[in-house]
Amino acid sequence: MAIRIDGKAVAEKVRAKVAFEVAELKKQGVTPGLAVVIVGDDPASRTYVNNKKKACAQVGIYSEEYALPAATSQDELMELVAKLNVKKDIHGILVQSPLPNGLDEKAVVEAIHPDKDVDAFHPSNVGRIMIGNYHFLPCTPAGVIELLRSENIEIAGKNCVVIGRSNIVGKPMAMLLLHNNGTVTICHSKTKNLKEICRNADILVAAVGKPKFVTADMVKRGAAVIDVGMDRDENGKLCGDVDYENVEKVASYITPVPGGVGPMTIAMLLQNTVTAAKSQNWLK
Ligand code: GUN
Repeated sequence: MAIRIDGKAVAEKVRAKVAFEVAELKKQGVTPGLAVVIVGDDPASRTYVNNKKKACAQVGIYSEEYALPAATSQDELMELVAKLNVKKDIHGILVQSPLPNGLDEKAVVEAIHPDKDVDAFHPSNVGRIMIGNYHFLPCTPAGVIELLRSENIEIAGKNCVVIGRSNIVGKPMAMLLLHNNGTVTICHSKTKNLKEICRNADILVAAVGKPKFVTADMVKRGAAVIDVGMDRDENGKLCGDVDYENVEKVASYITPVPGGVGPMTIAMLLQNTVTAAKSQNWLK
């Protein structure tokens, strides 16, 4: 039976460290500030944004929410980003994805000042991740690395397989594993022999967005399996990309959904907001 990695507990440790750093910054007269922009009324996005605001409050980070109607124009959104880029009490800007149809998300991300880009989605930050010289770690992949560290799971020299090639998770995840000296394979919808490749993984990261996609026959005995999915099963119940019930019998470590990677993503966002506040106030 696999050891269940408790993302809530690991996230709590990161948050305690962030809260300490926030308190130190406040002594120097700086309160880290995060602006969260949400456009439209997607219920999942609303939940994520509420969780992010709540998490900010818990560690003493100041946050502002900008909830805009779905009919917001590209120009209006770009104007808001431009305003936040120069707003003195705001160190981090997060535009919740996905944006409603008709809005150009790429242009919005590129408009965010790279020093305030706490998601690390701006091409300049993405480039930095590629080179390995970064201020901001991408939140979800960084959270996965923290989870592996929390259990002292060695990455160096291990076969790491990432299923999914999104800009938010798959690609930066592969980069971070590579920076940690893993031997990395990225799989996607056109991959041939997916099962064989996954069965070779010592560390398997699932970021496909398909409920229970990773089955026990795809997992090597003793592997560490990290589930980035946030899906709904046939009964509408929250589940991950991994068939937890069966995979836990084969793996040595596994993350649950909920309570695995999810809490880590938010904790790393808080960490990035503090990093942003430090760099913008020359208080390092
Ligand atoms: N939508 C889903 N995940 C994320 C994230 O990490 N950041 C933003 N801005 N939007 C998202």
